Amino acid sequence: MRLFQALRHDGFDFKTAQLNPSQFHAGSTAQQGSQSHACLSLDGRIAAQWIRHHCAEKVKEWGAAHLAVILASSDPASRVYVNHKIKAFKEAGMHSTLYEISEDMVSEAGLVELICQLNDDSSVHGILVQLPLAQGISQTRIIESIRPDKDVDGFANHNVGLLHQGRLEKALLPCTPAGVIALLGLYGVTLAGKHAVVVGRSAIVGRPMSGLLLHEDATVTVAHSKTQNLDQVCREADVLIVAAGRRGIVSRSAVKPGAVVVDVGMHRLPDGKLCGDVDPDVFEVAGLLTPVPGGVGPMTIAMLLLNTLRAAHLRQHGR
Ligand code: GUN
Repeated sequence: MRLFQALRHDGFDFKTAQLNPSQFHAGSTAQQGSQSHACLSLDGRIAAQWIRHHCAEKVKEWGAAHLAVILASSDPASRVYVNHKIKAFKEAGMHSTLYEISEDMVSEAGLVELICQLNDDSSVHGILVQLPLAQGISQTRIIESIRPDKDVDGFANHNVGLLHQGRLEKALLPCTPAGVIALLGLYGVTLAGKHAVVVGRSAIVGRPMSGLLLHEDATVTVAHSKTQNLDQVCREADVLIVAAGRRGIVSRSAVKPGAVVVDVGMHRLPDGKLCGDVDPDVFEVAGLLTPVPGGVGPMTIAMLLLNTLRAAHLRQHGR
């Protein structure tokens, strides 16, 4: 089952090609020999706004859903991400409660106890533990202690299994890869029959990304840090999704002319600016490219709103 089909079960009526990349802004125009080549930007802020607007409409229909967010690390980036999530919930008319535990006070047993309380609290529809956790705390144990129907990150075994079985209408799906599929769908990028190459095999992005692409009927290759001839493998891609967490892993020479390139990476440069995993000169060959910032990042947050609403709705309807 495809993503938009699964979301339609819950009344989210997203259709492909609701947005037109050329309507918004062209990324850049580069000269290739005598020909000029336009690479268009897949603007995640606009697509995320679209989804957030739909969530706000659903809140009016169904009532607000409630997310519990646990922040138990002193990582400054985690705090920034959590603040963005809480702000987005407020803007959509949804509730969130932040449970902040200082890194020197946190214990695995204490976290499990808090999660158990939130599992039993019927006013809480979703639970999110911001990762990474402090060293010595088992991420697996923490994730697996969240009730599957409140696992709005879609990281726990139950939801991972549903995703890989293609039972997307029952699954809570990980926000970043689901956000990538939604972004491509909203801009009318067809995946069926295309060769999609995913660079990166993390549990949060690469692996679920490959499963979701398969359910969209793409032909999928997963490449990673040990892949031989990585550039050659990437050049085969009609759709190239880069989630390696390594800056510059994909450069211009690794991209097929006209390919769709989705950059999931996020790095802070010494001058404070953000960049992705993909070299900036990729715009000279790609047909469509997600910017960093403003590409996949906003989609992750939009999908978290949607997942929390779905969690509330699925529970209400006993699914
Ligand atoms: N840390 C980085 N990305 C994520 C995410 O999507 N969910 C959680 N819980 N932590 C993260």
